[in-house]
Amino acid sequence: MSSLMSNYGRFPVSFAYGLGAYLYDEKGTSYLDFASGISVTNLGHNFEPVTKAIKEQAEKVIHTSNLYEIELQSRLADKISKASFGGKLFFCNSGAEANEAAIKLARLYGNTIHYGKRYKIISMYNSFHGRTYATMGVTAQEKIQQGFTPMPAYNQYIPFNDIEALKAAVSLNDTCAIILELFQGEGGVMPVDTEFLKEIRRICDEQDILMILDEVQTGYGRTGHMFAYQLFGIEPDIMSLSKSIANGVPMGAVVAKDKVASLFTAGTHGSTFGGNPLACAAGIAVIDEMLRDKFLDNVKSKGNKLKEYLNNNLPNGCTVKGEGLLIGVKTPYTPKDVAEKCLSKNLLIVPAGNNSVRLYPPLNINDDDLIKGAEIFVSVIKEMGK
Ligand SMILES: Cc1ncc(COP(=O)(O)O)c(C=O)c1O
Repeated sequence: MSSLMSNYGRFPVSFAYGLGAYLYDEKGTSYLDFASGISVTNLGHNFEPVTKAIKEQAEKVIHTSNLYEIELQSRLADKISKASFGGKLFFCNSGAEANEAAIKLARLYGNTIHYGKRYKIISMYNSFHGRTYATMGVTAQEKIQQGFTPMPAYNQYIPFNDIEALKAAVSLNDTCAIILELFQGEGGVMPVDTEFLKEIRRICDEQDILMILDEVQTGYGRTGHMFAYQLFGIEPDIMSLSKSIANGVPMGAVVAKDKVASLFTAGTHGSTFGGNPLACAAGIAVIDEMLRDKFLDNVKSKGNKLKEYLNNNLPNGCTVKGEGLLIGVKTPYTPKDVAEKCLSKNLLIVPAGNNSVRLYPPLNINDDDLIKGAEIFVSVIKEMGK
């Protein structure tokens, strides 16, 4: 019997090594990786510049703690700030921790700038923001909260993309922040309506409410833009990041505009490991690669190719969603069954909600492997229909 807790329903395979878009099991059998560890290894496995940065840093120093200056952390913060909206950064180790910090910042803002009168956080049904208490509290899904109620009392949930519900929710004048994903990843790659997003931005500006964008899954090139908000012509006040920012070395970050970031004074928040030299060395190698000429353009064109192939070849009853290489496919079949069938054909994909699966190949995948994965996927869906 395993000594592990049974909180994961795992697929019956384990991997010994990986290279580029492929993972290999102990016997050397290859699997084409359209999961990327749930959009984490966006540069593929064993990507040379990242591996080299990790090796070199490990030989110097892995961890010192935030008791001391960490030059690599400042360098990485400058790069992310410059690539986004010029905010300030806090580093942590996961997506939930990044959202936890975002929620704490929002509460600080409500308590200090609005004298405690603003405390409510509005979030969307079918969202996913993490499994810690505060982040589970804004994750408006019964199946995630089941068994852990009562949730913190300051949350209010509204249907995604419902402007009237949004207006009704903010009318009470007690809202400090609105948190959302631009594509609900766990919710099946459901896109935000531009009108809804613009209305949130307008209301936030008018009422001094903070807009928190959870870009844990959508950020870092996945949509063909460095950050998904750049698709919509708006900027958040706070953005959370994680997953791919160090290509698999655990790392999370919050970026916040100065008016909010300045509230995190010494002692208000922290993390022992957050932004340690090893993670930052990996993070710098990742962002340097993604900001290289044409990297993001290539993601866009690969995304278009993949979508075109899927739209032309999938049978009726399937819907292809998403942007860049953030692709969701709604099928008539149970997502887990689709993922299992793909696994049996040596293709890794990610199940999601809303009868959808996610296809998240590495962003630097070559065209042959991209189409090979798409062909396997289409053949699986066709077989399931027989
Ligand atoms: C949008 C989003 N936010 C937050 C999280 C939580 O991240 P983590 O599992 O690293 O805590 C996830 C994880 O899938 C996510 O997709």
